[in-house]
Amino acid sequence: MPLSAQPVLSAPPARVDIQLGERSYPILIGAGLLDDPASFAATPAAASALIVSNTTVAPLYAKALRAALANRFRTVHLLELPDGEVYKNLETLNLIFDALLGHGSDRKTVLFALGGGVVGDMTGFAAASYMRGVPFVQVPTTLLAQVDSSVGGKTAINHPLGKNMIGAFYQPQLVVCDLGTLQTLPPRELSAGLAEVIKYGPIHDMAFFDWIETNIDALVARDPAALAYAVKRSCEIKALVVGQDERETGLRAILNFGHTFGHAIESGLGYGEWLHGEAVGCGMVMAAHLSQRLGGVDAAFVARLTRLIERAGLPIVGPALGADRYLELMRVDKKSEAGEIRFVVIDKPGSAAVSRAPDALVREVLAQCCAG
Ligand code: NAD
Ligand code: GLY
Repeated sequence: MPLSAQPVLSAPPARVDIQLGERSYPILIGAGLLDDPASFAATPAAASALIVSNTTVAPLYAKALRAALANRFRTVHLLELPDGEVYKNLETLNLIFDALLGHGSDRKTVLFALGGGVVGDMTGFAAASYMRGVPFVQVPTTLLAQVDSSVGGKTAINHPLGKNMIGAFYQPQLVVCDLGTLQTLPPRELSAGLAEVIKYGPIHDMAFFDWIETNIDALVARDPAALAYAVKRSCEIKALVVGQDERETGLRAILNFGHTFGHAIESGLGYGEWLHGEAVGCGMVMAAHLSQRLGGVDAAFVARLTRLIERAGLPIVGPALGADRYLELMRVDKKSEAGEIRFVVIDKPGSAAVSRAPDALVREVLAQCCAG
């Protein structure tokens, strides 16, 4: 679909619904939503709220969010966490509990996650566990968080032995994606978010993949209409998948295309060295090669996906961790069963499945796709 066919940014915001029975909630998508109290009308009633953000995002957007919430809560506290994937751990999580207890927060206190996926995942996990569960709202400010991490209720922290290994499924009450926040994202972070946008094409929607190919330069240039469509379509696809398989008993695993290789890159290099989206982008190149070896796609498809990932500003050559180390790290993946790695592969363009793969095949892929 050409870019001109997409709606330009305007009020009212676009809305995508996550349909999960009594845990259903809306995702609102639009520019300027953070400044508008109406964006938060669906927030549960309570006396107090805690905005959890970080030292980078809070100075940019916490004041606006506080103002938008002023009429809904008697007190709105702000907690600024240290910024970075390296802080997505138990120690930082505990800062949220310290703040909640320190403020005398009760069971109705609403948590607002203002930031990217790191803040969102940690705040969600804190909400899932404080007093066995308090309501929370996602206010994602990175492209990656708007198209993926804020939606669907996966919350977690990292462990030195594995990424996102400690967490819970816990749905937010509302997701508010203010597209205006994407204009202050560093370019590397924008590219990282594009990895998760691109992901939705090969696993579910090749028409969307075509659209991304046509509009990749506009997306990299942060064209507001292009970003609006990319966020909305990504959320629609994620909503469809999560609505059918909230707890990843099957289908939802397809959202992890590229993530098995990607998580190995992230933890193998040390969290924060490569961005999550960068590792996923490169991981999708590897997973595409594996899909080709398993007969799901041809070389032309692999080349097309690789080219798009490169045009999005993402790395396409994996770090030289060594095949043994990659395999060791990938066995810690949550999809592994009895030590056997499972990969999300493309079984035909626009469709994904979970598959085992012989180590020898994986070693071939790593030899082809990694530096050194
Ligand atoms: P991030 O949260 O680290 O944010 C990236 C950087 O951008 C940070 O430095 C942040 O402070 C800064 N930032 C955020 N918004 C900004 C803005 N508007 N302007 C300027 N700077 C801004 O990284 P991320 O890519 O958003 O999220 C990655 C995390 O999400 C990983 O931990 C990953 O595991 C997790 N994740 C979770 C899910 C899920 O389903 N829960 C899905 C995908 C990824
Ligand atoms: N990001 C993968 C999932 O939400 O399942």
